[in-house]
Amino acid sequence: MTQEEKISPPRHIAIIMDGNGRWAKNRGLPRTAGHAAGAEAFRKIANYCRELGVEYLTVYAFSTENWKRSQEEVSGIMRLLGLYLKEALRDMRKNRVRFCFFGDLTKLSPKLQKLCLQAQEESADYDVQVNFCLNYGGRQELVQAAQRFAADVQQGLVQPQELTEDMLSSYLYSKDVPDPELIIRPSGEKRTSNFLLWQSAYSEYVFMNVLWPDFSPEHLDEAIEEYHRRNRRFGGV
Ligand code: IPE
Ligand code: IPE
Ligand code: MG
Repeated sequence: MTQEEKISPPRHIAIIMDGNGRWAKNRGLPRTAGHAAGAEAFRKIANYCRELGVEYLTVYAFSTENWKRSQEEVSGIMRLLGLYLKEALRDMRKNRVRFCFFGDLTKLSPKLQKLCLQAQEESADYDVQVNFCLNYGGRQELVQAAQRFAADVQQGLVQPQELTEDMLSSYLYSKDVPDPELIIRPSGEKRTSNFLLWQSAYSEYVFMNVLWPDFSPEHLDEAIEEYHRRNRRFGGV
């Protein structure tokens, strides 16, 4: 299929980048090797999304629950993130990716926090917006939104009964980002694992039997085609 023949992608695609550990295990490699291969798959898919004209790509990179893993695995993931961000800062002009971060970054090392901030600031004018979910949990996102709303009430800025769905959305990390039309989970698991709980109310889920490091542009095409076959009713008929 040529680029022109491809059906138009949704504006916002979200991906749960899962299956790195199994990919490594299948090859007799340490789990960190799977995460390195997963980072490679992400580079390819982010570029492909830009080519397709996707406006927002939200990726689940590290959840609030992933701290339960061994210290070795967690530090391996953090090291890879640091390397990736340094590389992204170097190649910023070429890739034209605009970085945003969803999650509680205060739990990351000061060095990594600085890289996140720098990537966000230096890429503010670029095209495809990549929302990197780091130490992200859908429940944690709602808790921090409730805390910030309560603080605004306490300061007399707003009344509790004035809270609307749009107002609540504005307290989320995804403020100003439209809800994802399509959420893809590779790896064969069929659950959300605390991803975008609020924003996914009417998203179409596509679950795929491929491990994230093996995920290719063809898999993304397949998911987009599947999305176009769905009949979205939003509660209507
Ligand atoms: C996803 O791959 C990456 C992270 C959660 C950080 P996994 O590491 O969960 O891979 P599996 O599910 O064990 O195969
Ligand atoms: C979800 O995958 C989180 C990320 C991909 C970052 P997990 O591997 O952590 O999810 P579970 O444990 O299978 O639900
Ligand atoms: Mg997993």
